Amino acid sequence: RHPGWPARLGPLVVAGGTLELRPPRLRDASAWSSTRQRDRAHLERWEPSSYGQGWEERNSLLAWPPQWAALRSLARRGLALPFMIVVDGRLAGQVTVGNIQRGALRSGWVGYWVASELTGGGVATAAVALVADHSFGPAGLHRLEATVRPENEPSLRVLDKLGFRREGLYERYLDVGGAWRDHLSLAFTEEEVGAGMVARLVRRGLARIP
Ligand code: ACO
Repeated sequence: RHPGWPARLGPLVVAGGTLELRPPRLRDASAWSSTRQRDRAHLERWEPSSYGQGWEERNSLLAWPPQWAALRSLARRGLALPFMIVVDGRLAGQVTVGNIQRGALRSGWVGYWVASELTGGGVATAAVALVADHSFGPAGLHRLEATVRPENEPSLRVLDKLGFRREGLYERYLDVGGAWRDHLSLAFTEEEVGAGMVARLVRRGLARIP
């Protein structure tokens, strides 16, 4: 078993509802697929491009079992911390720590999406806070990195609210929405976390532990 996996994080109450994070399940297929098909316009331009596969195929019911299996395998090998975001009992998105490296780096990237009908309610901010506290605590990481297109203002706002520092600009970094896009690189290390990111949100009145 790798440190920090499997895990359930939360609950945490935010403006958008009561949020919990749990590992992906095979039976998430229908909620995952229908949400992402509905939200194509909200998600596609911010997500890595896929070669030869359209959005519908890539987010079909049949696309979930191999994705679920891949996430489960990465998590079991200590290479990822993949969570489904559940708000008031319904699938609301995903937050993942990926490319986890141990040894002298002890770092990973964090990525997330939230269903359009639930945006603006503090869900992504709370989800990243829960995952960060878990990463720096039980999972034993020292650093989290996030790369974001400069145009993605909601995502930058999430990271700014949590205190991620801007470290630089990666030019033509990632194939997103069909072209090589510049990305800002933001990071946070364990020394900066103090009593915890969740505790900081609670203190600022942005979240409540029920
Ligand atoms: N300009 C500036 N700020 C904005 C804008 C805008 N156009 N739209 C929303 N915001 C603000 C909101 O007001 C809120 O800030 P506030 O709390 O100070 O009012 C903030 O952005 C969003 O915070 P949350 O409510 O915690 O986040 P939310 O649950 O709405 O999810 C997310 C944000 C994940 C970026 C969602 O919009 C989404 O899924 N977008 C599409 C996919 C995506 O971009 N994912 C991130 C890719 S980058 C990465 O993973 C590192």
